[in-house]
Amino acid sequence: MNVLGIETSCDETSVAVLDGEGRILSNVVATQMQAHAAYGGVVPELAARAHLENLPAVFEEALDRAGIVVSDIGLVAPTAGPGLIGALLVGLSAGKALAFARGLPLVGVNHLEGHLYSAHLATGGQPARPVESPFHGLVVSGGHAELVRVEEERIVPIARTRDDAPGEAFDKVARRAGLPYPGGPVVDSIAARGDASRFALPIGRAADGSEDFSFSGVKTAMLRQFEKRGVDGSPLNPGSLPQDLADLFASFQRAIVTALLQRVETAHQREGIRRLALSGGVAANSELRATFSRWGEESGVPVLLPEKALTTDNAAMIAWAGLLRFRREGASNLDAVTARSRWPLGSP
Ligand code: KG4
Ligand code: ZN
Repeated sequence: MNVLGIETSCDETSVAVLDGEGRILSNVVATQMQAHAAYGGVVPELAARAHLENLPAVFEEALDRAGIVVSDIGLVAPTAGPGLIGALLVGLSAGKALAFARGLPLVGVNHLEGHLYSAHLATGGQPARPVESPFHGLVVSGGHAELVRVEEERIVPIARTRDDAPGEAFDKVARRAGLPYPGGPVVDSIAARGDASRFALPIGRAADGSEDFSFSGVKTAMLRQFEKRGVDGSPLNPGSLPQDLADLFASFQRAIVTALLQRVETAHQREGIRRLALSGGVAANSELRATFSRWGEESGVPVLLPEKALTTDNAAMIAWAGLLRFRREGASNLDAVTARSRWPLGSP
């Protein structure tokens, strides 16, 4: 059975086709990064309009590349949330129209569940790796930081961010320094030539002693460091930053990765992690990948990392999560599926 995934929750318009074994037959992603770059972040109205303009061509191309026609589709899997309502409605309505017109089953997919299972997918035409539960998942993106335990029939939340998401912290700090958007990949490359042990920045932990993440402290500490140095947001060239600033960015990246690792270690000590799947846009980060791979080797925990192309938003991961959900609980009721701005992992 071929699954059609549709993703329009934020600033990527994407359509993908997967077969019943999770082979990616096509995964077309049209990014709107350019449209939002001038504003330093995603503008919801612009995003919705761009999805509307891009979706028909992205859909056609996804079918073409997969070598299928509409009648070869067996399941429609659009993202239903969480995300920007206007943006979500574009993909969800298109999916519903297709399902209704063709009498196909549809599952409304949780975008975070898409990330959660993305480390099981491969881009080279191989089938997806079998999902063995329980496993722990760490989703780190521009909107989320969530640590969960995935069991056969349910997802149990362990920790989430109280304020900024890690990707958001990367983006905001980069923006205040006058670096291009999105900030994550830029800071990643700057940090590669910096000394991460030079500055001690706050390691994000919620003040009440819970396991939740908090990244606003490290962000504020960075803004103070910028003030001290007269970094005022005027455009900076990432390739020619002074060493002092490269060290600062490396220390910032280290503080974020350390916060994430500490929570995973606590969870491992308490309940034993059998395997860990990282995902989300920030899972493209070099230091995060290296640090968690090393931790996995040292502690004997297999760490699954998504291929870089599958870390940021894409419809292949949505189709895959949709297929898994369909197998667990069947199709959604077409009338009842609505776009949801909030949809925590683990809630129905
Ligand atoms: O998962 P994603 O595409 O969108 C959301 O669902 O949020 O994640 C985008 C986020 C952005 O904040 C971007 O700066 C961050 O992922 N990101 C990175 C890297 N590549 C993308 N952050 C750190 N290091 C990277 N290499
Ligand atoms: Zn995402």
